[in-house]
Amino acid sequence: MNPYKTLRSVVRFGRIETDPIERRLAHAASVEDLRRIAKRRLPGGVFDYIDGAAEDERTLAANQAAFAATTFRPRVLRGIHAVDVGSTLLGRPLEYPLVLAPTGFTRIADPDGELAVARAAVRAGLPYTLSTLSTRSIEEVRSVSDGRLWFQVYAWRDRGLVSDMVSRAAAAGYEALVLTVDTAVLGRRERDVRRGFSLPPTIGPRTIIDGAIHPGWTWSFVRAEPIRFANVVGRDVGDGASPVSLSDYINTQFDPALCWRDIDWLRSVWDGPIIVKGIQTVDDAVLAAERGVDAIALSNHGGRQLDSAPAAFSLVAPVADAVNGRAEIICDGGVRRGSDIVKAIAAGANAAMAGRAYLYALGAAGERGVDRVLDWFRADVVRTMSLLGVGRVADLDRSLIAGQDGT
Ligand code: GLV
Repeated sequence: MNPYKTLRSVVRFGRIETDPIERRLAHAASVEDLRRIAKRRLPGGVFDYIDGAAEDERTLAANQAAFAATTFRPRVLRGIHAVDVGSTLLGRPLEYPLVLAPTGFTRIADPDGELAVARAAVRAGLPYTLSTLSTRSIEEVRSVSDGRLWFQVYAWRDRGLVSDMVSRAAAAGYEALVLTVDTAVLGRRERDVRRGFSLPPTIGPRTIIDGAIHPGWTWSFVRAEPIRFANVVGRDVGDGASPVSLSDYINTQFDPALCWRDIDWLRSVWDGPIIVKGIQTVDDAVLAAERGVDAIALSNHGGRQLDSAPAAFSLVAPVADAVNGRAEIICDGGVRRGSDIVKAIAAGANAAMAGRAYLYALGAAGERGVDRVLDWFRADVVRTMSLLGVGRVADLDRSLIAGQDGT
């Protein structure tokens, strides 16, 4: 036997990847891989702001644990030739049942920030929710997207500011408002407290070493135009021209006394669908449905507000039963794989919502990272449904999932 011949038959030299982003993506197979890359690339304060949550981060962990504790009951021999993952939400089509969650200050992860995420969402055929606390404005985001855009609303004490933003969203053709109701005051995010984290992040004596050991991020941050709270530039609420701690900002600017009547007020200034985000009990879900909201986003703000709040996924089934079709249901929190999306739909949600998953991708590999995650999620949903023996999203139901005890 000729050893050289054998060697020649097995040795394959791949092309050396010269593009650093592709090189990074080539080593990533999951959201957790992208999280690790983002952790390496982003300064500690920025990564912790994205990755961290309130107090002991129990709810952050619970969101993912609830998905992990749910097993599938796969059906076999069902003759499914093809899987169709298309779905609808608010009466319009979704490429697969996912919505991109609002996330504040997205440009801290990558200078293209919200523009990158909005473009990726269009390519994936999914709605993107722009945060009130975004670092690109309502109009800038619309200028790069001809897709479905939703606008997230916080209750500023200055309701005039809210109605101005709502009018701008309407003029720019945003489809729905997402009213966040879990932020009477800001949750205590202890990682941010320890680091003295501000928005925009400052580069000073405390962070200079952190900046120096993350040169890629630091170089793009200092070269890019300054980060501003783009929807309120020029307003007297402060637009990020001077760095602020998020808790000082939110606790002085947002109205802790938001109440159910404010939903009627929002309806008086907005003709389109309203989604209430931050519902954390069956009782409040029923009140929201009675108030006529179009959708309920079961959410604990990614564990960033009230620690020990219940996992969003654990509420899906009881809320779906109690609401009984009067409002659509979105499950937000802990989604790291397409199989989590499938579990949420099987439990009774109409769609899942994810924020951190795309932020890790953005921090790890910019816009191409976000594309990659949204492609993975779609492929995961197809594969999971295929292995479950289900051909259509409408056929996902509770007979296909079980709790840890198999019930
Ligand atoms: C903003 O909404 C945040 O959770 O930091």
